[in-house]
Amino acid sequence: MSDKHQTEPIGDVDVDTEADPGGDPSVPAPGTRLSGLALGIDVGGTGVKAALVDLATAKLVSPRVRERTPQPSTPEAVAATIASVVTKVLLGQDTPGELPVGCGLPGIVKNGRLASAANIDPGWVGWPATDNIGAAIGRPVLIINDADAAGMAELAYGAAEGRMGTVLLLTLGTGIGSALFIDGHLVPNTEFGHLEFHGQDAETLISGAARERRKLGWKVWARQFNEYLARVELYFSPDLIIFGGGVSKEWAKWGRMVKTRAEVVTARYLNTSGIIGAAWAAGAVVGGGVAAAGDLLAAGMPDDALGMSSVDDPGASRPHDDG
Ligand code: BGC
Repeated sequence: MSDKHQTEPIGDVDVDTEADPGGDPSVPAPGTRLSGLALGIDVGGTGVKAALVDLATAKLVSPRVRERTPQPSTPEAVAATIASVVTKVLLGQDTPGELPVGCGLPGIVKNGRLASAANIDPGWVGWPATDNIGAAIGRPVLIINDADAAGMAELAYGAAEGRMGTVLLLTLGTGIGSALFIDGHLVPNTEFGHLEFHGQDAETLISGAARERRKLGWKVWARQFNEYLARVELYFSPDLIIFGGGVSKEWAKWGRMVKTRAEVVTARYLNTSGIIGAAWAAGAVVGGGVAAAGDLLAAGMPDDALGMSSVDDPGASRPHDDG
């Protein structure tokens, strides 16, 4: 990998789970290394996954629990699955009540709700996700777009660690997710999977699921994908493009056919970037004090990219013991 944009990590921040929200928080910039534990949840079109993450190393310190996304994937049904997965992850774990919890969702995240739902039930749009998922798991939760979360993981610990310049992560799975960073600052909710491509949403023609549905061989798919990448490069001129999601596991079959001006790499965390990034984002907020979500704006993460709930239930601060 070229090091022309390499910089030192921006700094280290302890996740202070006792942080005084009214205090003087030190607000980490995206890509900053954190420490302490956080819980990451990744909701996809096919699976709901979660694990406890050590924020110093990005290592999973619990089993990664996965359950199928219920069909239909209504918000209530998915929230119940999230609660089930979280309960299993935390079973027997000695975690603080104020454990930061982040949840990646496959849509535009605005003000604690989804503003779009391409690969999940449309009932998610406008549903108070931050509040209701927080209530379902009995803990405050931060919600973030799933691809933005994956990008955060790669920026903090992975293929884009410490990178400046314009960095684009594309997740190629059921849909196409995107995370765009400019000098380490996230431009949230970019949704490049929905760029118009041959008169349709790009992801309906060239996502991983679309490749299978259309029965495209790798060569034909790569040719169409290159056409899409050329469009993206024309618009945004990324310095580095990172490919994540299920299709990236098959890199050996198509990587040599990719044609870009930008440097390209595969994500370091293929199965877990959504979990790690959601945990990182939650840790970054709690590390600066829960009230500091808006302050993250100053560090490059617009606050409407985040939704932070509070849970009033007094039992909420206990580790899960409700089965
Ligand atoms: C959604 C994005 C999401 C991506 C990957 C797209 O259909 O619109 O928000 O990041 O799928 O899940």
